[in-house]
Amino acid sequence: MSISFQRDEGIFALNTQNTTYQMQIDPLGYLRHLYYGRRVSGSMEHLYRPVDFGFSPNPYPSRYTPQISLDTMPQEYTGCNAGDFRVSCLTVSGREGACGAELRYVSHEILPGKYAVEGMPSAFAGDGEAETLVVTLADEVTGLEVALYYGVYEAQDIITRAARLRNTGTGALTLERAASLCLDIPFGDWDLLHFQGRHNMERQAVRTPVTGGIQTVSSRRGASSHQHNPFVILAGRDTTEEHGDCYGLMLAYSGSHRTDIERDQSGGTRVVMGIHDEQFRWTLSPGEWFQTPEVLLTFTHQGLGQLSRSYHRFIRSNLCRSPWTNRRRPVLINNWEATYFDFDTEKIISIARQASTLGVEMLVLDDGWFGARDDENRGLGDWFVNERKLPGGLSRLIAEVNGLGMKFGLWVEPEMVNEDSDLYRAHPDWALTLPGREPTMGRNQLVLDMGRPEVVNYLCDRLSALLDTYHIDYIKWDMNRSLTDVYSRALPPERQGEAAHRYVLGVYDLLERITARFPEVLLEGCAGGGGRFDAGMLAYCPQIWCSDDTDAVERLTIQYGTSFGYPVSAMGAHVSACPNHQTGRTVSLDTRAVVAMSGTFGYELDLNLLTEEEKAAVRRQIQRFHRYGDLIRQGDYYRLSAPTQNTDYTAWQTVSEDRGEALVSVVVTHVRATSPLICLRLRGLEENALYRVREFAVFGTGNACGDLSGQEEGRVYSGGGLMYGGFVLPRLYGDCPSIQIYLERAAK
Ligand code: GLA
Repeated sequence: MSISFQRDEGIFALNTQNTTYQMQIDPLGYLRHLYYGRRVSGSMEHLYRPVDFGFSPNPYPSRYTPQISLDTMPQEYTGCNAGDFRVSCLTVSGREGACGAELRYVSHEILPGKYAVEGMPSAFAGDGEAETLVVTLADEVTGLEVALYYGVYEAQDIITRAARLRNTGTGALTLERAASLCLDIPFGDWDLLHFQGRHNMERQAVRTPVTGGIQTVSSRRGASSHQHNPFVILAGRDTTEEHGDCYGLMLAYSGSHRTDIERDQSGGTRVVMGIHDEQFRWTLSPGEWFQTPEVLLTFTHQGLGQLSRSYHRFIRSNLCRSPWTNRRRPVLINNWEATYFDFDTEKIISIARQASTLGVEMLVLDDGWFGARDDENRGLGDWFVNERKLPGGLSRLIAEVNGLGMKFGLWVEPEMVNEDSDLYRAHPDWALTLPGREPTMGRNQLVLDMGRPEVVNYLCDRLSALLDTYHIDYIKWDMNRSLTDVYSRALPPERQGEAAHRYVLGVYDLLERITARFPEVLLEGCAGGGGRFDAGMLAYCPQIWCSDDTDAVERLTIQYGTSFGYPVSAMGAHVSACPNHQTGRTVSLDTRAVVAMSGTFGYELDLNLLTEEEKAAVRRQIQRFHRYGDLIRQGDYYRLSAPTQNTDYTAWQTVSEDRGEALVSVVVTHVRATSPLICLRLRGLEENALYRVREFAVFGTGNACGDLSGQEEGRVYSGGGLMYGGFVLPRLYGDCPSIQIYLERAAK
């Protein structure tokens, strides 16, 4: 049993293999947080030491005990307007407009298996893999009941949390804030790691000390956003990749989100995470409930690398539902950067033909195949083939592509509409626009009101018709603007604050229906690159296009940041043309492949334009990917350097679960004359085992020392020697040279 309840002390203990989470019902019924950290036995009640802080008010029954204050008590979920001045989970008001709630324990249940989150994606569990604790709290006056859900995955060291708020009273309640959780860490000095960015530069890892005041990581864009990923880590000040305490909090939600991190007056650190409360207003009529999205929590004392590996495994085994998650993905060619909107059937076939001779396995037809879509100003919403551009339609194109032995994939952007489209002309009210105002445009398109069932039904029918009619193996599901003018013509005035969340629920509903009906279609999520790269989307899409920035050097920091929470198997990455379309930089074709191979791997350029030598290199890259693809996708990932600090080179490593194989990849981003040698300390190997270098591939634009490839092959090193001493790399020359080293455990 990973969940236990000590009745005498009122303590709940949630134990995973390496962690313990404890909370306690306080004498007044508040649910106090006691401890989350390294696994311990026995009560952690001693960590709660009530002391008097001036101006921290007291619950009425404790008015003669100034030490008891919600303002200093670590809690599992906070009420509102009841004496806790730290960031709160909840803003609720009742009939008289009175805003307030005091949540006290009512009951609890311990259940086998993992609870489900209704209407939103959440982690799942196999038989015996998880247990659920539901603790119900309630506010007597409003009748608001808050059920706190905890899913405990013992072997994975993951605890999930979500809350369901129900109106058991007689009058309507209004929620203006309903977070998924509060995590109070009563002691310690922490750094916040978060993943911020912009279009073309997503998820840049930033580490800042948590100091007095509140730090907020949030998106108000209606999508999880390029700017602030809904994932944070709190790490001890001295925590490194390999050592030290760290907590991860990952929100499985794809809309506007908010995480507040507050260092309070008593030295505690509070994290409140959930749906963004700006423009959020949810009416709960008697009997109705509101479900928050789920948060995936983890803790480790073994550093950031271990935290990441826990998430990687968990996402692959308990979040991504696609049968593709653990399968080898087809190496694809996408025509976007090769043609943009300027293509016809012949051009696409010529790209496919060339690709097939090099070993590429799937052609993905990107934007521009439908409606009057010759540029980005028109056509979105008209998901019918443009036969002028593609004579013979998709049937002919797909037949040709399949005839080359390749699969076929298609781009769609279902949630959007252009004003210049038949769909908009027929249903202008389906777009999010504010009454009496000209809408704000993004990429000259509008956002459909996904909160309306008729919109979701229409899109479901259209997408299903495409998937039923044509032999489509893959869908790239794009979303190319942020939400503005959020106003639903289907909701009454008092429910307009529900439109943004209902939008997300509609997106999930559509994804749910499409994936249930077409489970074998490989879905790649996308939002102008990685603008919706989150655990919510990953439940449906085993891979997400990481960024529209395909520059290999830029990708190093993007993929590095992404790797803190998300597995390599989820990172869409392609080799594109040089000079790169986003930066103008030129990086050798092989180095581009080394970087793209640390993701799902594909190409996004016109392969016809390559020289024969380059084509031969592509053939070899694909063969190499076939050799190492399983290891890369399923292995344990180790960041060997931090490109945010070390701008000279980036190195990373994948080790198979049985530690029998390892692949080390290094890109030297700044070659220096007579540079000191790089000595890489490898990780995750078996200390006493011997490892033989099976492949030593050096790639660059020229090497003054001649071709170094193969020079190390056959050499045997001890695991300990490679981890504690390191692997000394040869000195490299050229523009962004790279190395891939494949090691295999030698027979004893
Ligand atoms: C987004 C995607 C790109 C491409 C274009 C097409 O920007 O991220 O990969 O599909 O849309 O319009």
